[in-house]
Amino acid sequence: MARSVMVTGATSGVGLATALRLAGAGYEVFATARSAEKAEKLDALASERGVALRTVLLDVADPGSCQEAVDRIARQTDGGPWGLVNNAGIPLAGAVEDVDDEAARRLLEVNVLGPARLARLVLPAMRRRGEGRIVNISSLGGRVTAPGMGWYCGGKAALGSLNHALRMEAAPSGVRVVLIHGAGYASAIWERAADDLADLAASGRSPHAEIYRGIEEALRATAQLPGPEPIVRAVHRALTAEHPKACYVVGAKTRLGGAADLLGPYRLTDHLKRVALGIGEPARNRLVEYAARRWCTPW
Ligand SMILES: NC(=O)c1ccc[n+]([C@@H]2O[C@H](COP(=O)([O-])OP(=O)(O)OC[C@H]3O[C@@H](n4cnc5c(N)ncnc54)[C@H](OP(=O)(O)O)[C@@H]3O)[C@@H](O)[C@H]2O)c1
Repeated sequence: MARSVMVTGATSGVGLATALRLAGAGYEVFATARSAEKAEKLDALASERGVALRTVLLDVADPGSCQEAVDRIARQTDGGPWGLVNNAGIPLAGAVEDVDDEAARRLLEVNVLGPARLARLVLPAMRRRGEGRIVNISSLGGRVTAPGMGWYCGGKAALGSLNHALRMEAAPSGVRVVLIHGAGYASAIWERAADDLADLAASGRSPHAEIYRGIEEALRATAQLPGPEPIVRAVHRALTAEHPKACYVVGAKTRLGGAADLLGPYRLTDHLKRVALGIGEPARNRLVEYAARRWCTPW
């Protein structure tokens, strides 16, 4: 029997590509969407690609919706999905000083509480079966904090910590919990982050408006980046490998950025990140400027 996998946030970017890839590879995919309209489009796209998947409505920030979605999948499977890919996520750009409680709470609901809640809901069936996989999608931002993205990075770091705790707690039941870090792929998430900054800059309330314009431009330029296939391949590996790694760090930038941030003194890494995002004095050396922009942005 095909293994069932629930993929959250499957209407675009990483989630969409993951759902289609897994369906193509023979998994029974439960792909979640936030509205019936988006679910219909997803169904149509899957048929166009010649793969079968089932759509489920889900807002990860709503506990009732999470329960309903998992119950629905439980009725169509052996009590719940064999795998869960916690992919749904939102950006939140803006200096810590400019982000209000409401926006911060929303970020934490979607990017941290939602994945933890879903893990809690699917674990009992996995434990009963003595096997299962939970894959959490983090980001370079979970390893390296960037100015202007404090809440997004903080949320991903929190997701990483929860993932590590859960991995150790679930291992005795045969459930494998895997974290994926990636960065630098074109997707709607960066466009939305750019919109956050444009709104803050236009509000006339931020002392950081000038800086936001520069970061916004850089974020809009991410449309030129390649698609998220490397992350998708890592998710597939995390589900298929007999002994999956605890953590897949995808791409040279994510590996180097994480290591440099751990090793480098804050004076150096702060400087490079500020140069990368056009905050404060520009670099005196063109090579440093190029390297910072190429390697020290969070996307
Ligand atoms: N792109 C990158 O470079 C990159 C790198 C590393 C990690 N990631 C991570 O990968 C994940 C997907 O990002 P992406 O780049 O593919 O972004 P995306 O294209 O914006 O996709 C985000 C998905 O999450 C869904 N979503 C948002 N809020 C939700 C909620 N409350 N409940 C359920 N679903 C919700 C969205 O649905 P709607 O269409 O309804 O909004 C969409 O399907 C995120 O966790 C992100 O942090 C991305």
